[in-house]
Amino acid sequence: LLELRAQALENIGSAEGLKALQDAHIRFLGKKGPITEVLKGMGKLSSEERPVVGQLANEVRKLIAARIEEKRAELEAKLIEKKLESEKIDVTLPGRKIATGSSHLLGSIIREVEDLFIGLGFSIEEGPEVEQDYYNFEALNLPKDHPARDMQDSFYITDELLMRTHTSPVQAHTLEKHKGVGPVKVICPGKVYRRDNDDATHSHQFMQIEGLYVDHNVRLSDLKGVLTVFAKHMFGADREIRLRPSFFPFTEPSVEMDISCFRCGGHGCNVCKGTGWIEILGAGMVHPNVLRMSGFDPNEYTGFAFGMGPERIAMLKYGIEDIRHFYTDDIRFLKQFNRA
Ligand code: PHE
Repeated sequence: LLELRAQALENIGSAEGLKALQDAHIRFLGKKGPITEVLKGMGKLSSEERPVVGQLANEVRKLIAARIEEKRAELEAKLIEKKLESEKIDVTLPGRKIATGSSHLLGSIIREVEDLFIGLGFSIEEGPEVEQDYYNFEALNLPKDHPARDMQDSFYITDELLMRTHTSPVQAHTLEKHKGVGPVKVICPGKVYRRDNDDATHSHQFMQIEGLYVDHNVRLSDLKGVLTVFAKHMFGADREIRLRPSFFPFTEPSVEMDISCFRCGGHGCNVCKGTGWIEILGAGMVHPNVLRMSGFDPNEYTGFAFGMGPERIAMLKYGIEDIRHFYTDDIRFLKQFNRA
């Protein structure tokens, strides 16, 4: 037993890893180990030998077990130390920049307009980009022979289906949904399509934001008030607006809104060409035919509508000279408008 003890302690002391230690544990203290053998053989011993051998065997077993535990703790501590050493990080190193995406300028403009109108009690409405001829034209008081329906201007899919050429069809959809009962107060942003050759000021696909307010006693002065708030919000409190008479089949009277030029260097101004005014959107009082066709009684209800192009707003606001920048995804262009 004493020899066994010496051998075991030597073995444990030299164990270099947890695996070796575990092996030593099994070898010396296991069910088939020498100490178990000694204890099992106690029956063959004389009554004088038995207590002496039994006590010694137990002491040796306890000692070996204690040493193994000690060694285990030591090895584990070393292991942790090694791990900490290898995983050491230098918190003073400069961080690596993470490239993040950002909102597209058009998305930001649209959100800005939406936020303003939500604040004025409007809600957001959307309509299909593939539209029925009826909603794109007919319901907006553009009869079959109207020049604006010219095939040149629209992408037709079938005789009855086309890519919508403006967001105004959402007016008709929304009015139908309300089944003749006001108020209707919506903003409708979305993509529109026209058969144009792309150049600095034309794009076969662009965006519009439609506005529609139908209720009892809505007047042209209400339209002017709302558009004034809009213009000052988007272009600055010192902007002035003016309404010029115009024509749209779905509004009567129809107007175009100008804002006072904010880049005006007088005669040389390339934004307003020296006129002091910039056209910004089309609008008007909803035509009685439009109300009637979508189930509203024009004797009971009146309304105003307007349509604007977020590209145009962005181009004026930031001095962008080519509408194609919005759709060609040059990161150097987009990055300049890394706003919220
Ligand atoms: N739909 C018109 C356009 O695309 C804009 C507009 C909308 C005009 C609503 C009046 C009322 O030019």
